[in-house]
Amino acid sequence: MVDLSGQYQKIKPQIDAAIMEVIESTAFINGPAVQKFQKNLENYLGVEHVIPCANGTDALQIALMSLNLSPGDEVITTSFTFVATVEVIELLKLKPVMVDVDPLTFNINPDEIRKAITPKTKVIIPVHLFGQCCDMESIMSISKEHNLWVIEDNCQAIGADYKFSDGSVKKAGTIGHIGCTSFFPSKNLGAYGDGGAIFTNDEQLAEAQRYIVNHGMVVRYYHDMVGVNSRLDSIQAAILDIKLSHLDEYAKARNEAANYYTEKLKPVAKINTPLKAPFSTHVFHQYTLIADGFSRDELIKHLSEKNIPAMIYYPVPLHLQKAYAHHGYREGDLPITEALSKTVFSLPMHTELTSEQLEYICNSILEFTT
Ligand SMILES: Cc1ncc(COP(=O)(O)O)c(C=O)c1O
Repeated sequence: MVDLSGQYQKIKPQIDAAIMEVIESTAFINGPAVQKFQKNLENYLGVEHVIPCANGTDALQIALMSLNLSPGDEVITTSFTFVATVEVIELLKLKPVMVDVDPLTFNINPDEIRKAITPKTKVIIPVHLFGQCCDMESIMSISKEHNLWVIEDNCQAIGADYKFSDGSVKKAGTIGHIGCTSFFPSKNLGAYGDGGAIFTNDEQLAEAQRYIVNHGMVVRYYHDMVGVNSRLDSIQAAILDIKLSHLDEYAKARNEAANYYTEKLKPVAKINTPLKAPFSTHVFHQYTLIADGFSRDELIKHLSEKNIPAMIYYPVPLHLQKAYAHHGYREGDLPITEALSKTVFSLPMHTELTSEQLEYICNSILEFTT
């Protein structure tokens, strides 16, 4: 699904030198490489504060911890996402309220958010799934109307641009009160291990988050709040800093591959190609199709026989997972999410796809569907 080796080979001298520099400096934790990457990411995103941390799951958890919520407070989010989004809500004894998505963008439907608001609702977590922003203008207006926090789960859409109706543009993850991202190796901005970051323009939240990532420690060995140990290590920061300078070029390569897939597969009546929302650029973390009238599993088997990987993100929506059964959701509660989980499949998507590979993949799909 990804070709991390091919991508590394292209920037090997810089990466190897950056890793060696950290090793020789022995500044493994919170060294200058972390601060340099933090500043460069702040500039790239146009956001006041980036707080690096250990992974995207921690970023979401720390974001929630910084909001002084109480057990039982409700957090509205999507069920069509990676488990981390809902897991952290549960871990903090908050209540996840999962609502349905838009069938074309796969992203949370603002009308469904409105319907789910109760006096206990405190937070909305929109997830920019597969690399494209949610309808943030509507979500921010709901947030304003009902005085709710918005934490963007931007683990899959770093680098995407959101265009407001007045023409202004902001980077994904910098629109809500807090944004969270993951630097998991296969992400669009991937480290060579785990990593994550929190973004905010709110000085007070940033201060709290900086303490929380470091055991709630304000002065050495004085702990003013309960925190965690969640750090981005210097080697990962040095690698990410180099890859950040290539992020837009990586998004371009992903878009070129996506355009190729779409051009070849759009004419197939039984396949729905991804819709690009007018208000967002797409950075194609995943290229995800809908099988409309044929067996997705049979196609995946056919592709696998031709050595082509295909994945299902996500086969079981979170409201129907065993771990969350105590919330009482039933099959049929979120019909669009449930239908998507039975019909979506994702094709290989990365920065190193060649036209030969793309042609081979598309021809293999056409063989099966026509
Ligand atoms: C939507 C979403 N949220 C959260 C995460 C968690 O990130 P991490 O794996 O870095 O903890 C991921 C990535 O795996 C993700 O795709």
